[in-house]
Formats: sequence, C-alpha cells, structure tokens
Amino acid sequence: MDYDAFADLYDHQYDVYRDDLHFYGGLGERAGGPVLEIGAGTGRVTAFLARRGVDITGLEPSGRMIERGRERAAKENLTLAFKQGDARTFRIDQKFALAIAPFNALMHLYTPNEQLQALENIHAHLTPGAPFAFDLYVPRFGKANTLRHEGETFHTPDGARTDVFLVQRHDKVRQHITTEYHVDTTQPDGTLKRRHYTLTQRYYTRYEVEWLLRFAGFESPRVTGSFQGGPLERGSDVMVFQTRAL
Ligand SMILES: C[S@@+](CC[C@H](N)C(=O)[O-])C[C@H]1O[C@@H](n2cnc3c(N)ncnc32)[C@H](O)[C@@H]1O
Repeated sequence: MDYDAFADLYDHQYDVYRDDLHFYGGLGERAGGPVLEIGAGTGRVTAFLARRGVDITGLEPSGRMIERGRERAAKENLTLAFKQGDARTFRIDQKFALAIAPFNALMHLYTPNEQLQALENIHAHLTPGAPFAFDLYVPRFGKANTLRHEGETFHTPDGARTDVFLVQRHDKVRQHITTEYHVDTTQPDGTLKRRHYTLTQRYYTRYEVEWLLRFAGFESPRVTGSFQGGPLERGSDVMVFQTRAL
C-alpha cells in the first residue's frame, strides 16, 4: 500500500488523534533502550516519544510520509530518525528494546505470508524478552457501497475548505475493506479541486492475531479493548495487543 498520495491529507485527518499517545509514550519511557516504530507515517507518535527523550527509529515505506515527518521535526525543533523500508524486508543493524506499530499499521499486510514475514522480521530486530505492542481497529463498518460524509471537514489558513467523502467496499472473503476517498477542496474564490484516493486495509480478528504472534515467536499476547487497559468487549473500537519476543 503506497501512502505517498495520502501524505498531504493524512495530518489534516489524523494529527488530532491522541487516544494512543500516552500508552505508547509510557511503553517507550519504560523500555530502557532503543525503540522501533513500524509504519511511523508522518511521525505523529514518533515525535511524541522523541519529545520525551525516547531513542526512537521510525520505519516507514512512503517517502512522502517521511518528508512530512521531517517537516514536522523541523517545525518542532526535534531530531527524528526515519528509516525508509517495509516491515517485511527492512534490515537495521541494531536490536531494539521495544517495537510498536501504532494506529493500524499492520493492516497493510494482506496475506498470512506477508503478516508472518513482517512479524518474524520485527522479532529478529528485538532483544530476547523485548515487548512488542500494536493496535488494530475492531472490524465494524458503516454502510457499504454508499457515498458518505462522516463529518470530516477541514479549514486551512489560506481560507480553503476541504470535505472528505468516502465509499467503502467490503470483501469478506479476503477480509479486505477498501475505502475510496473523494476529497473536495474549495478555495475562497469558489475554485474546486477534486482528488481521489483508494486505501485497502486487511482487517483482523483477535484470535488470528494471537496465532500469528505465536507462529512468529512471540508469547501469547495480552489483549485489551482500550489504551487504558479496559477489556476487549462488544462495543470496543480498538484491539490493543501487548506481547514479548520469546
Ligand atoms: C494508518 S498509518 C499510521 C501512521 C502512524 N503510525 C500514526 O500512528 O499516525 C499506517 C502507516 O503504515 C505504513 N505502511 C504501509 N505498509 C507498510 C509496510 N509493509 N511496512 C511498514 N509500514 C507500512 C503506511 O505507509 C502508513 O504510514
């Protein structure tokens, strides 16, 4: 999945998302060594941890997302270490005391082979016993094949207004959810620019993740339904997994 096309929209959509920051921040501060973030994006979580003095490397395949991350770092006077690469194949000549994959980053691994390859590769970059934490959303979707506006409207300092519309298509056999974003940006003079992006995610069920982790050499995970440690239950929006490299 190539996030280059999303990079400009990404921070408008998700920079305000903060639910996970203290959870990953706390893990980073307790790690006692270098931290590896998988799918670091534009550094939303990377910057939060770096500001707390955590030695963190953000692995990210999209060059454009990394560029945005470097712009963020420069603005905040931070040094952020990004490494361009894919979870399945990256090689970093270092062992980490903690790995994290925040905000659905593992949903861009589409087949069991890709998932196992990535998990085994992450495992190979951890010291024995090092924790690995990540979150995935609970698969629950809005009305399929229907154009929706879910309140995503942004106003930028140049006076432009951006509205995000989406259509989702659900492939239950492959556990894929494909979201087509239709993004309309209207300038104050009425000029309209229309953009179109497609994002496919591979959603997971709780127990398949537990088996994948065990296959890849991790211990049976602790699974919660919130970043504060509450149980995973019917109404939970996220599944938060915490495990260790055996
Ligand atoms: C939903 S974004 C999350 C970004 C960031 N972790 C955050 O919390 O804002 C998912 C990220 O995973 C990255 N990604 C996609 N495929 C990947 C892969 N095979 N290996 C590592 N990262 C990947 C995308 O480029 C994207 O930046």
